[in-house]
Amino acid sequence: MLDRATIRAEQVRVANQRFYDAVAEHYEDVDGRRSPRLRAWLSARLAQIRGDAPGGRLLDLGSGSGFLCRCAKDVFSFRVGVDLSEKILAANKDAFEAYAVGDVNALPFEDEEFDAVTCFAVLHHLYDFAGLVSETRRVLKPGGMFYSDHDMELAFARRFRLPLQLYRRLRGAERHYHQVDQHLTPEVYELAEWQSAGVDAERLVELFEQAGFAATAGYHWYGLSPLSDRLFGTRRCKRGWGPLLSITARKQ
Ligand SMILES: C[S@@+](CC[C@H](N)C(=O)[O-])C[C@H]1O[C@@H](n2cnc3c(N)ncnc32)[C@H](O)[C@@H]1O
Repeated sequence: MLDRATIRAEQVRVANQRFYDAVAEHYEDVDGRRSPRLRAWLSARLAQIRGDAPGGRLLDLGSGSGFLCRCAKDVFSFRVGVDLSEKILAANKDAFEAYAVGDVNALPFEDEEFDAVTCFAVLHHLYDFAGLVSETRRVLKPGGMFYSDHDMELAFARRFRLPLQLYRRLRGAERHYHQVDQHLTPEVYELAEWQSAGVDAERLVELFEQAGFAATAGYHWYGLSPLSDRLFGTRRCKRGWGPLLSITARKQ
């Protein structure tokens, strides 16, 4: 167990880089949740975001294997991926028009370069959100859109702590990743999954609003498993009743 009070942001950053370098070639296979239905759903979400964005330049933060950028192929005309892991980007070059190695806290781009900034399953890997919000604000054009999805939300994770523990144990993601690379210790996994206890949607919305965005949070189940897709579909839930956090924010 980590002594969380003593952990610094740099340790979380280094753990993420090590982790995704190690699983670069295997990430999507090990995750095992990227179905054609999820792709179609995400493409439709991105089309909505594109409809609200001023133009077609997309920056995907923590783009990893390029899942979101692939889903955005016929939606955004220019898709840029940025990630800490050079290896995962290099293994998935075909997903982007351009990519850069970088940290969401210090993006290697000019001011107001993008019409939309996205994250998919990335928020829970971040130490905190101050850099994400200020850098997103800086690189977005006025009227630009931020969209993030597929992180476990705090209120749900608290309400369903025990079933969630069981789900995670049965899924065995950490075990599977360890099989890919024996050097991925439980400590690296725990550091990389820094906010696995849940992302605080209210706090994140507040941070975006303080930075001059109009932001909303939604909660849903879509894309966790074929069973939950059948049971809950794509409908939105009240906070605490849907595990997956979806955030949309427009720069004013
Ligand atoms: C769970 S993966 C998701 C990858 C991709 N978005 C997807 O859905 O397939 C999280 C990604 O975030 C990246 N990441 C974590 N912390 C980051 C940071 N501070 N800056 C940039 N990328 C980061 C990791 O390297 C990893 O590729």
